Amino acid sequence: MSRPVLFAANWKMHLHPGEARTFLDRFLALDAPREGRSLAFFPSAVSIEAVASRLAGHDHVVVGAQDVLWEPKGAFTGATSVALARGAGAGAALIGHSERRHVFGETDAETARKVRAVLDGGLMAMLCVGETLAEREAGTTLAVVERQLRAALAGVEAHADLVIAYEPVWAIGTGRNATPADAAEVHRGIRQVLTALGFPLATRVLYGGSVKLENVAELLAEPEIDGVLVGGASLDPDQWAAICATARPG
Ligand code: PGA
Repeated sequence: MSRPVLFAANWKMHLHPGEARTFLDRFLALDAPREGRSLAFFPSAVSIEAVASRLAGHDHVVVGAQDVLWEPKGAFTGATSVALARGAGAGAALIGHSERRHVFGETDAETARKVRAVLDGGLMAMLCVGETLAEREAGTTLAVVERQLRAALAGVEAHADLVIAYEPVWAIGTGRNATPADAAEVHRGIRQVLTALGFPLATRVLYGGSVKLENVAELLAEPEIDGVLVGGASLDPDQWAAICATARPG
């Protein structure tokens, strides 16, 4: 089945509101919206409102938070709740990104609480999963990804507004991407787990990790890859516009 391709930009800790507006002015001047494609932008929390208001009225574009806490409000200095993100204009949240898991020590259990908070709050959840280099070399990639999925999705309704992003940790920001065939194999494993958990075939599974203009077409040539989650290469509006203009071959 052919799912619309989703191009998602993860800006990480870059682009304050003024820089984000300048980026979008240039990006929108270059971008030609087209059928069968949607976009997502995950700016820093401080830039969500600027990005959401600049993109208001554009079809098939969602703006999201890079992380949220599960608590609805309260004394949690530095954290962003789902309601705060939504109030700033977010329609989605990235959850369980490998930097949250491996730099900030987020556990599977915490990821699960965040996924539920995002979905209960009416936002789309983009759940990231992926193995470390040691796990890949030990041959446990599929087991790790399955554990992460089952932990994060336990008790989640199958009709949830959910996107999965497969991001091998060793490929993020390293210039070293998974080969399209390797990524596709993991995507098939993810699809099997999603199906076993009752999620519909329409659930998109993206690939992320050193995606750039030079490799995006070959990744999208794999029918299991429903889009890309892009860090470094999404920070340049010209490059990002070119990536988003890439059609699925064939
Ligand atoms: P990268 O980051 O494209 O810079 O490898 C991807 C991500 O972390 O989502």
